[in-house]
Amino acid sequence: MNFVEKKILEEGRVEGEDILKVDSFLNHQIDVEFLNEIGKRFKELFKDQKVDKILTVEASGIAIACICAQYFNVPVVFAKKMDSKNLDKETYESEVYSFTKAKHYTIKISKRYLGRGENVLFIDDFLANGRAALGIKNIVDQAGANLVGIGIVIEKGFQEGRAILDDLGINLHSLAIIEKMEKGKISFKSL
Ligand code: G4P
Ligand code: NA
Ligand code: NA
Repeated sequence: MNFVEKKILEEGRVEGEDILKVDSFLNHQIDVEFLNEIGKRFKELFKDQKVDKILTVEASGIAIACICAQYFNVPVVFAKKMDSKNLDKETYESEVYSFTKAKHYTIKISKRYLGRGENVLFIDDFLANGRAALGIKNIVDQAGANLVGIGIVIEKGFQEGRAILDDLGINLHSLAIIEKMEKGKISFKSL
């Protein structure tokens, strides 16, 4: 068992059939030492990739991406989900459907901060149905940048995210893949 799986078993709480709450270390309170280990691990996994920039989506992705960025020595750009009066007018945008929340939202990145030919690594907390990742892929394509990989802390292996990203030939690494959560009991797929 790796350190992410261990942390999930120690602190995660299963809600309903398919939601894993990790508020004690990832989504509300943040365990910075744990995030440091995440950063080191992603640096190892993506050591062969040239990474110029890390992308994520607000809000939960930001802390993770920032700690990871210290191991890659690159800036972080987060896609905005909230409407902001102060965002540049010139943006790349993509519509994302969230099954978990049963609604659409638009993610936006200023054209100023994503350029043609840049090599980007997308980092996020969860992979469920892969819609946020697809939205990011779409924005990276619009910019003429290259998506060199996706790093996910917790993948829900019983949802379709991985299949969708595999079909696109995306280099995906998750640090823990949940196989199932039955009666509150969590089991992992081997990595
Ligand atoms: P998808 O992008 O993979 O298709 O995922 P989906 O729309 O279903 O997920 C919507 C939001 O719920 C995302 O956060 C995602 O990280 C989060 N999420 C999905 N499954 C779980 C889960 O089992 N546990 C937890 N804790 N979160 C989950 P968000 O609402 O976009 O953002 P944020 O503001 O939390 O960053
Ligand atoms: Na989240
Ligand atoms: Na998220």
